[in-house]
Amino acid sequence: MSLKSFLSAKAAKAMAAAGIPESCPPHLNSSNKPEFGDFQINGAMAAAKLLKANPRDLAASIIEHLELDGICSNIEIAGPGFINLKLDTQWLAGFLAELDTSEKLGVLPAENPDTVVIDYSSPNVAKEMHVGHLRGTILGDNLVRVLQFLGHKVIRQNHIGDWGTQFGMLIAELEDQLASGVDAAMGLGDLEVFYRQAKIHFDEDPSFADRARENVVKLQSGDERCLELWRKFIDVSMQHAQENYDKLGVTLTQEDTRGESAYNDDLVAVVSELKAQNLAVEDQGAQCVFIEELADKNGDPSVFIVQKAGGGYLYATTDLAAIRFRVKQLKATRVLYFIDVRQSLHMKQVFATARMAGWVPESMELLHCAYGTIMGEDGKPFKTRSGDTVKLSDLLDEAVQRAGDLVKSKNPELADDEVQTIAQAVGIGAVKYADLSKTRTNDYVFDWDSMLSFEGNTAPYLQYAYTRIQSILRRAEVSESELARFSFLINEPAERSLALVITQFADVIEQVGERAMPHELCGYLFDISGRFMSFYESCPILKDSVSSEDRESRLKLASLTSRIIHQGLELLGIQTLERM
Ligand code: ARG
Repeated sequence: MSLKSFLSAKAAKAMAAAGIPESCPPHLNSSNKPEFGDFQINGAMAAAKLLKANPRDLAASIIEHLELDGICSNIEIAGPGFINLKLDTQWLAGFLAELDTSEKLGVLPAENPDTVVIDYSSPNVAKEMHVGHLRGTILGDNLVRVLQFLGHKVIRQNHIGDWGTQFGMLIAELEDQLASGVDAAMGLGDLEVFYRQAKIHFDEDPSFADRARENVVKLQSGDERCLELWRKFIDVSMQHAQENYDKLGVTLTQEDTRGESAYNDDLVAVVSELKAQNLAVEDQGAQCVFIEELADKNGDPSVFIVQKAGGGYLYATTDLAAIRFRVKQLKATRVLYFIDVRQSLHMKQVFATARMAGWVPESMELLHCAYGTIMGEDGKPFKTRSGDTVKLSDLLDEAVQRAGDLVKSKNPELADDEVQTIAQAVGIGAVKYADLSKTRTNDYVFDWDSMLSFEGNTAPYLQYAYTRIQSILRRAEVSESELARFSFLINEPAERSLALVITQFADVIEQVGERAMPHELCGYLFDISGRFMSFYESCPILKDSVSSEDRESRLKLASLTSRIIHQGLELLGIQTLERM
């Protein structure tokens, strides 16, 4: 159990014994100033209000029931009824020693593991992946890693956009290129160029446009030749996507792809089930679900079209089919969708409809993990200088290039291959961290200089903090087994502050698993690195004047800190280096 939940449970028990109803939580939090102790129980005031009691008296009665002998060295009431707890130093040292032996740094496996489906990345494959796919791809992958670390079963789903009328045109283009002797990999080498050519032919050549339209019909009716060309197109596109995933160090593989086309055979049943339940009704030829719970301010229900007037199905229908599949076949107990915030209404409509249709058990969580847009310095969505969309692969190459230049300028004598390794870790790390460290739901401005800075809440700063600690540990020349035999001594305020933040790791990871807000983990790693720096300034480790007990304990604190930074960055999908 984490320190915070351990103390929270103690506080809750004391409150119950003091006659406070369960509806009043203890509100136990870390204190933000050392003079308020290490933790505070802030729940007495709200409880007093409810019970019409004097809050300080109630706090006193909670304290009487607190079973914290040997755990806290000081408990006092402050202000209107805060209860300040100061942990016994030896007890805290013992808690750390225990945490130190845990491979997962105090994180316990989930008691009731979920089967979590994570729908992420999910590009439309008619085009090359661009900067707009970055957020969903790396935020989703962070949750994959965190939830697996917490012991949940995670199923990745790359819900790619691989179906739709644009494929008629793309197949016609591919057919022409193959006929003129170009092979598929070559013709599709640059999807943007390919798409543009197809579009020009479609707009300028009426017979091409006719063929494109015929292809749509043929494709939908299962024509073998069309399907074969379509598959070629998808294969090549997904190879491009996979190159980006590999560059990014994202854990998606081709096995995780289940695109829109995978649900084609379910669409008829989705609509007919909705009709049978009178949820879908005809309106101007289309099948619509009228959703009262999403009514606008005039009271008009939200209209969710599940089948077009001509009989065609939509993005909406496919998402409904995907939910059914995830519940029935994948046995999901929780589904997280990493999708642009601009699709919020769509997601609400999908969730509401699936629930009304009874396809989703009451207890199951469907969470739209919405994210904002990456902006350019001009405050508009990020584009190249010439106004084109930024290709993801170009962006990642530029990151590595820039990181390499930076490393070389700081360290001109490094060998080229070493520069390359560092540039890879720092450049990709910087791009990912810049994204993960921003509040997910907000937009943010893409800025090379700030993400590659070695100061502030950035990947290079954390990677550097990690290598610094590793170099201290190397210089100390202690082995793992020696370290394991040393004991913790928590005397100095900076040691205490570092020790306390170490105990928070488990809480932070759990919270990220619940709320899917990776910036909370980034903020934590920045905090622990900062506290380590202050600790290292005021508590020397390797100086001759330091007693051996202090040195041993400080080496242990350093090692534990570096394990946490390493693990934290790994969960963010960011590499650490032993030297940089
Ligand atoms: N392909 C869609 C797009 O690029 C995103 C799909 C997200 N996932 C989903 N289940 N709707 O906008």
